[in-house]
Amino acid sequence: MHDKTIGVVGAGQMGAGIAQVSATRGFEVLLYDVDEEALNRALDRIKGSLEKLSGKGTLSEEEKRDALGRIRTATSLKSCKDAFCVIEAAPENAALKKEIFHQLGEMVHADAILASNTSSISITLLASVTAHPERVAGMHFMNPVPLMKLVEGIRGLQTSEETFLKVKALAQHLGKEFIEAKDAPGFVVNRILAPMINEAIYAYSEGLATAEDIDKGMMLGTNQPMGPLTLADYVGLDVILAVLEVLHEGFGDPKYRPAPLLRQYVTAGWLGRKSGRGFYQY
Ligand code: CAA
Repeated sequence: MHDKTIGVVGAGQMGAGIAQVSATRGFEVLLYDVDEEALNRALDRIKGSLEKLSGKGTLSEEEKRDALGRIRTATSLKSCKDAFCVIEAAPENAALKKEIFHQLGEMVHADAILASNTSSISITLLASVTAHPERVAGMHFMNPVPLMKLVEGIRGLQTSEETFLKVKALAQHLGKEFIEAKDAPGFVVNRILAPMINEAIYAYSEGLATAEDIDKGMMLGTNQPMGPLTLADYVGLDVILAVLEVLHEGFGDPKYRPAPLLRQYVTAGWLGRKSGRGFYQY
């Protein structure tokens, strides 16, 4: 096992951010995705973010270069087999994540940690498909990962104390604040954030106010850095819908019912910033 190597599975916004902070903090990173193009886009995104940080003086030129030099990409999951920790950041699809965890469980070393960055899917479920469920935990980063200070740690039913303490230590080593959550739909942050965004979408679809005024109201009225509709576009409307579906199904409570307009936007491919259109045009 390479004690300094972190495997990151999935090269979307979150995977790229996790790879970036891991490399910046001195770890070797293996960024895996099935899609070569996604890996190239992730590297561009990481370079752009590191440029911004070094432009602001948060990172030196040397630190930026070293961080980039520590990131390798791969299109075979097997390349993660020697990592001491693999952080999964694949799309929010339980079947896909289960398949990834099953495969990872077969290939990593006996004391490697398997962590999921899932926004809401049960860690107990993901752990259940692995050979060593006690070594699985949730490690939920926030978007944009290089700027957001929080990691939410989630204990599955089977997660051992040793595993959880290692995940906590790793998050702190990555410069993040840590909170502990139980394994329940949405954990802490999305349990509270997703219903707020959903309510903003209901309000918008009822014509209560314009998108701009809903966002302005929440920004100026409650000091949020982005209004809820802008934040939904930023995170991805498909991600918000997936989280709400997990809350709705998991609790069986109609208060989590996704706004029909959200579902319609996702069906139309209006996913927010990443597709060029959501509640706003980009
Ligand atoms: N890397 C490096 N620097 C970045 C960056 C990135 N990825 N993104 C933005 N920046 C920099 C910008 O260049 C800018 O730098 P200057 O101050 O030098 O101009 C600075 O950060 C501020 O950016 P902006 O001026 O573009 O915008 P902002 O002031 O609104 O800050 C923000 C951006 C930090 C994202 C802020 O809007 C914010 O905190 N928004 C809320 C984000 C949030 O709530 N995230 C959680 C989402 S929920 C989640 O992730 C969980 C889930 O499972 C769905």
